[in-house]
Formats: sequence, structure tokens, C-alpha cells
Amino acid sequence: MIGSITTTRNGRKFQINKRHTRKRMDVSELTAGMYIVELDRPWTDSPFLFQGFLLENDEDLLLIKTLCEWVVVEVTEEEWCELDGRGKASLQHRTRYVEKQDMAQQLSAASHTYQSTKLQIKRLLASAQLGQALNLKEAQAAVKDCVERVLNNPNAILWLTRLKHQDEYTAEHSVNVCLLSIALGREMELAPYELENLGICGLMHDIGKMKVPAEILNKPGPLDPQEFAEMARHTVYAKQLLMGRTDIYPGAVDVAYSHHERLDGKGYPRGIDSSKLSLFTRIVTVADAYDAMTSDRCYKSGMSSLDALKVLNNNSGSQFDPELVRRFVAMIGLYPPGYLLEMSNGEVGIILSADPGYQLKPKVIMILGPDKQPQPERIVNLSMEPEDDQGVPYRPQAVFRSGCFGVHVNDYINRGLRIKGFEYAIAAG
Ligand SMILES: [Fe+2]
Repeated sequence: MIGSITTTRNGRKFQINKRHTRKRMDVSELTAGMYIVELDRPWTDSPFLFQGFLLENDEDLLLIKTLCEWVVVEVTEEEWCELDGRGKASLQHRTRYVEKQDMAQQLSAASHTYQSTKLQIKRLLASAQLGQALNLKEAQAAVKDCVERVLNNPNAILWLTRLKHQDEYTAEHSVNVCLLSIALGREMELAPYELENLGICGLMHDIGKMKVPAEILNKPGPLDPQEFAEMARHTVYAKQLLMGRTDIYPGAVDVAYSHHERLDGKGYPRGIDSSKLSLFTRIVTVADAYDAMTSDRCYKSGMSSLDALKVLNNNSGSQFDPELVRRFVAMIGLYPPGYLLEMSNGEVGIILSADPGYQLKPKVIMILGPDKQPQPERIVNLSMEPEDDQGVPYRPQAVFRSGCFGVHVNDYINRGLRIKGFEYAIAAG
């Protein structure tokens, strides 16, 4: 037995006992998300490198279906005992498949990488502002870590890009553009060394803003034409700051100089067209626009992720590279991790991640009941077609940003979110 909890559903009290167990299954019954621990033949006769693996996508499924007749999967069994005050009255069984990814570990490693990258860019921004020499060595090491985290699991680190603090906008925006660019580069199947170069381009793209007068940079309202012209010069300032350096990927100068150009030649500062825009510039442009649109500024609230994706889509071909927009939209998805999801029954949860191939059916920590009051938290995996207390299948209804319904996702991280498989607890704050 791995644990036992007591819960109340519809006024009825249950004790739930959980245990891991193994189950032999015909391959026709397999679905993505199941953990395979044994094949009907020796592992050495299969193309699988590991003796035990998570079925992640349709290709794996197809491969195992053509190779085997049966396999053994590891599952978590739940034994529900209804308590009526006199003891256990009835017994129900439910089975869930064990998820092997340890989100708690990933989130904590990702958080460490995010914070150290933010520290490095803050130092660089401060040096640029004071006209001091830029020490890029540590920033490059931080970007290397970012690449490792994104390659490991983009969900955990992309979660952190949602947790924004208005007062640290430029530093957080730089880290977010770095991470989103790496994640989009991963979708484009770039090599790890290319992702490191791309990450540096993302991290440094706005460094020229430190040369823009603070009263314009931090103006709590829209800029007038003169102020806008000065703000637009951050691209030129960046070029001046980075040009001629031998300790940075040379493409970073081009990206910082060109990330406000457009495919149709209507951007700034030069108004060059698509024929002169590098792949890295195009990637950083998409990541920059998305993060800027979804960020709160002192004079306006950020857009929802979905609205920002719509803007990217509407300007695809004129401002943004259509292929990159297509991949970016698919990567972020309709249900981005770190956002709130309201179900059709009114319950609200925080989106955790989606299994590959199940972008429309993410995993969610349910935290509010239909009355928007806190309820005992639990994870539901929509790809498993779960039902609510009334026996009605959960259906996603609308996505909201952190802060809606009084739910601040940062609080959950700060209080020590712990997730392991389907087991998790939130430490008392
Ligand atoms: Fe910029």
C-alpha cells in the first residue's frame, strides 16, 4: 500500500487506499500514458533501450502493437471504502496509470535554473546601464542549463515563464524570451549547440533598453511618437553594446538589432524584409511578441495566452514567420501549463501539463469547487476521461490567467508544490 486518505464526496465519506500493482494487458488495450514494465519477449529482442518506459505517443504505441501480443503495465489501484460511521459499507475499485515523471523534481530544478538565469541577466542589464564591461561567461553557462531543462521537459520550465512580477519586467521578459525561443527551436529540431546560441540571442535581445532613459522605459502609459522613436532605438543601442565582442555568439548582435523587423519590411529600425531575416531573428521575434503580449504592464493588463496566439496567427506572413507561428501555437496549445482552467461543471484547476498527443486533454490540479470555493486538491488527467462527483465527464470550458478567482499560481509554487505521479501534497504555508 502506498497511502490511504479520507475524502468526502456528495456528503458521503470514503477511505481511499492506494497501491501500485502490475497488470498483464493485451496490446490492443494500451493507450499513451501507460508505463510498460515487461514485454512478452526479452527486452534484448526489442528496439527499446530501457527495460521499462512510458508510452508517450502514437508511434511508440504502433511499434509495440506490431512487436508484441501482450505486455505488463504498472498501475495504481484505488480501493474506495465508503464509511458510514459504523465502518466500511461498500467497496469500489478504480485504476489509474502511474505517471513516472516527477514534476516536483523537474519544477524545483527548473526553478533553480530560472532564478540563476534571471540573476545573470539582471547583472548584465545593470552593467549595460552603468556602461560597465559585460561579463557574459556566467550568462552563457546559465543558458546552457536552460537548454538542458527545456530538452528534459519543456512543461516544467515553461510553467515558470507564467509567473511574472511587474517590477522585474525586463529581466523576466529576457529569461522568458530565452526559454520560449529555446523551446520553439526544439520544435524546429535544432541541435543542442544551436539552441544554446539561440538562447543567448533570446536572453540578450533587449539589452539595448538599458540605454533608453528610465522615464521612457518605465513610463506608466502609452508612449508619444517621440518617446516611441527613442524606445525603438534600443535595437541600435544593443548593436552598439554587442558589436565587435568576441566572447558572444555573433548572431546575437543581428537578433538584438533586428528583432522588431517584420517579414513585410514594415518593422524597425531598418525596415528590412524577409530576405534578410535570419531564422534566429524570426524565432526570437515570435517569442518576444508572445511574452510581451501576455505580460501585465503598469498601464495595461496582459492578454490571455489564447488571444496572444490569435494575434500571432493574424499577423502570420506579414509580421511573423508562418511556419514558426504554426509550431509555436501547437507548442503552447490551448491549455498552457500554469494557467487556470474552468470546467463545464464550474470547478477550477491549475493546468499542469499535457501528455504528448493529448494537448487538448491536459492534467489539471483541481482546486476550486463549482461554487469557486476551495476544495480538497487532486489531480485529474483529462486524457483518462475522468468524471466529477456527479458522474459527469470533466469538460474544459475556459482558460484564465493566474489571479482570476483569487487563485495566484505563484502562491502554490511558493508554498512548495509537490507532485509525484498522481500523488501530491501542498505543504502548509
Ligand atoms: Fe525589443
